[in-house]
Amino acid sequence: MRIGILTGGGDCPGLNAVIRAVAKSLMRQCGAEVIGIEDGFAGLLEDAPRVRPLTWEAVSGILMLGGTILGTSNRADPLRSPADTERVLRHVQALGLQGLVVIGGDGSMRIAHGLAAHGLRVVGVPKTIDNDIPGCERSFGFDTAVATVTEAIERLQTTAQSHGRVMIVETMGRYAGWIALEAGLAGAADVILLPEIDYDIEAVAAVCRARAQRRRHTIVCIGEGAKPVGGALTVQAHEAGRPEPLRLGGVAHALAQALQPRVSSEVRATVLGHVQRGGSPTPFDRVLATQYGNEAAQLVMAAAWGRMVTLQQGRLGSVALADAAHGSRQVPPDHALLRAARQIGVHLGERLGA
Ligand code: F6P
Repeated sequence: MRIGILTGGGDCPGLNAVIRAVAKSLMRQCGAEVIGIEDGFAGLLEDAPRVRPLTWEAVSGILMLGGTILGTSNRADPLRSPADTERVLRHVQALGLQGLVVIGGDGSMRIAHGLAAHGLRVVGVPKTIDNDIPGCERSFGFDTAVATVTEAIERLQTTAQSHGRVMIVETMGRYAGWIALEAGLAGAADVILLPEIDYDIEAVAAVCRARAQRRRHTIVCIGEGAKPVGGALTVQAHEAGRPEPLRLGGVAHALAQALQPRVSSEVRATVLGHVQRGGSPTPFDRVLATQYGNEAAQLVMAAAWGRMVTLQQGRLGSVALADAAHGSRQVPPDHALLRAARQIGVHLGERLGA
């Protein structure tokens, strides 16, 4: 058996752990030959597909490495035109691949699903620090991102306290607030603002003023997709030609501008950006990624094509790619962490007295 592996979309800690587990599992259990495709679907779209053999040696010693040894692309989209789709299918056949393991986020799962509809034998593995893939309650990379943001908030706590400032820290996460919520709680943020709950600027200002009166600094943790009541998303760039054309970012600065005239403390903003995606995966993510990779190999060996590995209610399993290809898994309004945050006095941007 000859199987291809590619990583698509933005990178995330734990990708190499998945590559290693898929390859080792397939080699050990069925003597498969495993081929790595470079730079995601871009490597399959070029005239001469860019591939390299993933031997046992090639995937040894990479468990703890951040990024992806195969490279990735978040621009290549084989579904953009029928000619591109046909080209990818032709290359897969020419390479003698009996199946393809696609490790990627919602965009890559949509592509995998589209290619499966054209007969490609594909298995998906969900990756994203955002933790927002439908049908999957924990994606690897998320735990590492939360650890990174938590450490940053802890550092901001001490300098905020020294100066009596309001410190705003912006996390990634796109339209889902998982990173801001978990890291905000872990870092003892006083205010957590999520894309799922439009915030009331007057309420946030009132919380900051009340804290300042007690000589307390304020930490605000805000997800990049958060917006004020009646306001719009903060968009950094529109990038046509990408599966996800809106690049978010800068909401912390927008909030700082709106907040400063309403409070007497100094307000500062920190945008953490891509540090959240870099570096070595946490032990939790290494283990989760290893399980996902091994599970993907089991799906390949069972010829369970068109499916994506998942974790649901703590159990590994799989769902049809069709169920994971669309939408974003947001924090539900009745989530236990939202309730706990409110109950311990964390402000979630809601109108005071509401
Ligand atoms: O989806 C992962 C993610 O890191 C988002 O949290 C963020 O909005 C986006 O990717 C950033 O993408 P890029 O790498 O294109 O800047």
